[in-house]
Amino acid sequence: MAFPGRNLLILLLFFISFSYSKSELSLDYYNKSCPQFASIMEQIVSEKQIASPATAAGVLRLFFHDCMVEGCDGSLLIASTSFNKAERDADINQPLPGDAFDLVTRAKTALELQCPGIVSCADILATAARNLVIMVGGPYYHVRLGRKDGLVSNASRVEGNIATPTMPLSDIISRFDSKGFSVQEMVALVGAHTIGFSHCKEFSNRLFNFSKTSETDPAYHPKYAEGLRKLCANYTKDPAMSAYNDVMTPGKFDNLYYRNLKTGLGLLSTDQAMSVDKRTKPFVDLYAANETAFFKDFAHAMEKVSIYKIKTGKKGEVRHRCDQFNAAKINLR
Ligand code: HEM
Ligand SMILES: *[C@@H]1O[C@H](CO)[C@@H](O)[C@H](O)[C@H]1NC(C)=O
Ligand SMILES: *[C@@H]1O[C@H](CO)[C@@H](O)[C@H](O)[C@H]1NC(C)=O
Ligand SMILES: *[C@@H]1O[C@H](CO)[C@@H](O)[C@H](O)[C@H]1NC(C)=O
Ligand SMILES: *[C@@H]1O[C@H](CO)[C@@H](O)[C@H](O)[C@H]1NC(C)=O
Ligand SMILES: *[C@@H]1O[C@H](CO)[C@@H](O)[C@H](O)[C@H]1NC(C)=O
Repeated sequence: MAFPGRNLLILLLFFISFSYSKSELSLDYYNKSCPQFASIMEQIVSEKQIASPATAAGVLRLFFHDCMVEGCDGSLLIASTSFNKAERDADINQPLPGDAFDLVTRAKTALELQCPGIVSCADILATAARNLVIMVGGPYYHVRLGRKDGLVSNASRVEGNIATPTMPLSDIISRFDSKGFSVQEMVALVGAHTIGFSHCKEFSNRLFNFSKTSETDPAYHPKYAEGLRKLCANYTKDPAMSAYNDVMTPGKFDNLYYRNLKTGLGLLSTDQAMSVDKRTKPFVDLYAANETAFFKDFAHAMEKVSIYKIKTGKKGEVRHRCDQFNAAKINLR
């Protein structure tokens, strides 16, 4: 019993396991330090979504784009300064809606009042995206907590990491693959296009002067193409013009996105391409036929996205404000 070496060993093991578990994500990360975390998120997210129903799609896209650049670390929430052009000012992120950023600000403000300096912006974003998917009818998945906020946000790192609708499907597949996501996971994730909308410029190439032989993309259902041409007729003058990604049930998280692809109602060329390419078609067919399979795989893939390259321990910080690094107060001005 009075063997000091053993006590030392136990103490050592205690510290090792303590510091180890501290650096891992867990479902109950805030249970002691901020027991109101879940209920505050619940309340702020549902108030915002009810007031502004476009929030869900905006936050889901914001979250995905955040995770694909530097990992899920809130780097996309950082505002640019005269010293740094931040991720959110990269061209691809320009259309991200103000409502999505606003939700994060509201949640952060409410949480700072209850538990100052405890909850990271990255955890707020991951939890908000999950809660919103559920609110619009999608599946539940676990969001483990304890992400730290990143210390880098650089607009020039965005382009190589985010797919665009004019990219060949092979390039998109390899972009997902390089981040460890399979073709099936990719097809499931793009099912996020069951909600939200796209600006005309993202698909105008399919509507006007498409090819020498056809003004519109023949892969579109003719009536759909006609409607989109009318909708987007003025898009160069009015760049805000946009169309629903899922024309059948635009605000509902369901598998109609995949069913649409099979009848020429896929909006973006990459959406359309997934339904014919032999690498992706089997999964489009599966999800079009079986919503349960889609929900199961989407939930799984989102859980995986949510922990992509997360930072823990000293590799990040808990920001005081989601749009500024903590050091900004000292360094800038
Ligand atoms: C093949 C890969 C993908 C491409 C090429 C792509 C492209 C786009 C484009 C161009 C828009 C329209 C943006 C705008 O005009 O405002 C959009 C919207 C959207 N994307 Fe994707 N996306 C892809 C994958 C994903 C993934 C994996 C997710 C999430 C898991 C996602 C979620 C969304 C959402 C929710 C919207 C609607 C945004 C809103 O209504 O504010 N996308 N996507
Ligand atoms: C942590 O809190 C959540 C939500 O309040 C609760 O569901 C869960 O059971 C708690 N976990 C532990 C280990 O206390
Ligand atoms: C942003 O990234 C680019 C390319 O990686 C690099 O040249 C530039 O110095 C970075 N800017 C900042 C402020 O770190
Ligand atoms: C249509 O595209 C062709 C090239 O594919 C181009 O020569 C022509 O000027 C375009 N027409 C219009 C009206 O933009
Ligand atoms: C497009 O613009 C013209 C003139 O600026 C206007 O008369 C017409 O109503 C607009 N159409 C749409 C669909 O907004
Ligand atoms: C649909 O997918 C679920 C989940 O993968 C599976 O359990 C179920 O058997 C499938 N249903 C049909 C009709 O294939």
